[in-house]
Amino acid sequence: MPTRPSETPVVIASNRGPVSYRSEGDDLVEVRGGGGLVAGLQPLLDTGRATWIAAALSEDDRSAVARGLPGPSGPVHLLDVGTGDLERYYDVVSNEVLWFLHHGLFDGAHSPTYDDDWRESWQAYRRVNRAFAHAVCEHSPERAVVLVQDYHLTLLAPWVTTQRPDLRLVHFHHTPFAGPSEVRSLEPTALQEILSGLAAHHACGFHTPRWEGNFLRCVDDRSLPAPRTFSSTLSSDLGAIREVAASAACAAALARLDEQVGDRFVIARVDRMELSKNVVRGFESYDRLLRIRPDLRGRVVFVAHCYPSRLGVPAYRAYRDLVVETVDQVNERWGDAGWTPILLELDDDFTSSVATYRRYDALLVNPVRDGLNLVAKEGPAVNERHGQVVLSTEAGVCGELAGAADEVNPFDLVATSDALAAVIDRSTEERRARSEQLRRDAEARTPEDWLADQLRAAE
Ligand code: F6P
Repeated sequence: MPTRPSETPVVIASNRGPVSYRSEGDDLVEVRGGGGLVAGLQPLLDTGRATWIAAALSEDDRSAVARGLPGPSGPVHLLDVGTGDLERYYDVVSNEVLWFLHHGLFDGAHSPTYDDDWRESWQAYRRVNRAFAHAVCEHSPERAVVLVQDYHLTLLAPWVTTQRPDLRLVHFHHTPFAGPSEVRSLEPTALQEILSGLAAHHACGFHTPRWEGNFLRCVDDRSLPAPRTFSSTLSSDLGAIREVAASAACAAALARLDEQVGDRFVIARVDRMELSKNVVRGFESYDRLLRIRPDLRGRVVFVAHCYPSRLGVPAYRAYRDLVVETVDQVNERWGDAGWTPILLELDDDFTSSVATYRRYDALLVNPVRDGLNLVAKEGPAVNERHGQVVLSTEAGVCGELAGAADEVNPFDLVATSDALAAVIDRSTEERRARSEQLRRDAEARTPEDWLADQLRAAE
């Protein structure tokens, strides 16, 4: 009898998994994995029909694997691929090269560079992908659907389908996908292998038709057979975020914030300290706003949650320093004893980020390019101030919030500060109408819709 889709076993393969470990004395404590990808896939794990294979990313994760954790009979398997290969696969190939490529972050004059060291890193990326392929073959029940996630794991499919033709592989790409001219800045053998690796899936999914179209053009450019493709946007679990918003801890965080900002107009952002998030241009736009609108000095405050990320990559360390330096300059230029123009929060504390979601009057989401951007949906879902969203045209989520958000080109400092000025000057009536529309748009889809689209693509 054929298996019904709702009974089909599912295997997830992703770099970051649903659990990680933290040492406390001699013990290893299990911690829930973070990030949008993990949150989106978690409901599938909760159904009990999924197995999840992920990389052991930290020293503590590797110790856990050595001690037999999370346990061979459980649904989660962490792969220890060795620190040398992990660094090259994650920091170099995935984050310094593929992430930069798909987010349009290369500057041409200095990066990328493909030397002998790069070639070693590429071999490490291949080895890690092969280790994942072995694990998928080993842990997949017969005729399972395998959901392969993101740019870290593009090479699995040809290896897995040769060994296990009974499996159906669906790839989902969480980042943007660069267009055919842009991908030419990737080293040619790597590019060829990545595109044929992706094309070997039963189907490939993207957050928006724009990234899907770019992928199809890249595949077509090389005369590769195109797999089935689909676009499906992810959403956060807004119920869970509302629970955080309603918690006593969030109320306390909001009270602390209120004490700092008083009744000022709050511009906010919540991001990883990430080059593609365009944090520095955001502060430069705010700097211009304070220059051209002296009446706003002392009346607005920028609350920026920017938590450090990927500090193994030199460009991220340099960017973190630049962000802090830019904040210091703006605060020094315009601040006074009673007013700090930018409040920079470096801790990754979700509860206090949600408190800021509740309190902002304008949310700035201005990535250079973004696969989707969940912050632009999470904020409007819990905001209590008829908050507006100033949104980059290059964020995947832009189409979903069209008409309700204020769209800006992320490179245009004048347009961004003018958009901030426009939302500050906007009538209460229009603010209310737009914020209600933003909320409806944010609520239109659930993580389950996104999962269902991936499973349907496997049929
Ligand atoms: O955009 C892809 C993604 O995996 C997101 O899900 C997540 O927020 C981000 O990248 C985190 O990256 P990393 O796992 O490298 O910290």
